[in-house]
Amino acid sequence: MIDLHCHLLPGVDDGPATLEESLQLCQIAVADGITHAIVTPHMHPGRWENTKESIERDCKALQAALDDAGIALKLGYAAEVRLSEHIVQQIENDEIPFYGEVDGYQIMLLEFPHGHIVPGSEKLVAWLMERKIRPMIAHPERNKAVMRDVELIRPFVEMGCWLQVTAGSLQGKFGERAESVARELLDRGWVDVVASDGHNRGVRRPELDWVSEYLVRLGSVECANEILVERPKSMLNESTVDDRAEREPATSGGA
Ligand SMILES: [Fe+2]
Repeated sequence: MIDLHCHLLPGVDDGPATLEESLQLCQIAVADGITHAIVTPHMHPGRWENTKESIERDCKALQAALDDAGIALKLGYAAEVRLSEHIVQQIENDEIPFYGEVDGYQIMLLEFPHGHIVPGSEKLVAWLMERKIRPMIAHPERNKAVMRDVELIRPFVEMGCWLQVTAGSLQGKFGERAESVARELLDRGWVDVVASDGHNRGVRRPELDWVSEYLVRLGSVECANEILVERPKSMLNESTVDDRAEREPATSGGA
């Protein structure tokens, strides 16, 4: 399996603080059946000052440590980009690492603030889409406004945004409302990717294996395969050493 949203780099955000913790998280991911992890450190000016260069450097360093430790996890990198007044400048300065290109669009993991949807967000999405950048909205089921009214996310879906639901939400780890909204989004067919958003060894673990069975039970094998295998695979890019994905299609999740 491929995990497209996780915080595994040491000391760069609210993920693991040390290399030792990073390696422990990576071991958890591997034991779960994750073969590829696209690390997505927060890019949130004023809070988490990660840059494309620092993420690339730190990702390579962690990959080297994994290889040294014999932990069979291949890393790639993107970023969880906070919607802020800086985002237009970040894009224009080519400061944001994207996932791979799919159907002519570069895919960017976009995080809304947790409490609301910022006025003007639709305008920003239109601006991004014009530039062939497709936002994948991180965990909309945990946004307080969407939790109150799922319809608020509809305009973004209709404009072409993808939605990424967090695995733990489906397990109720972020409360009953996030769980029911995540289910509602799945029922509407609006979920493009389920990722772990793994941060630590506690509640927010880098695990996905159980989701496969859950999605099959809920919908179909095809749906589980699309959300957990095919779509993530299409989003790997050259920052990921994906020769193993070529040799061993990432079906270990049992989808
Ligand atoms: Fe995240």
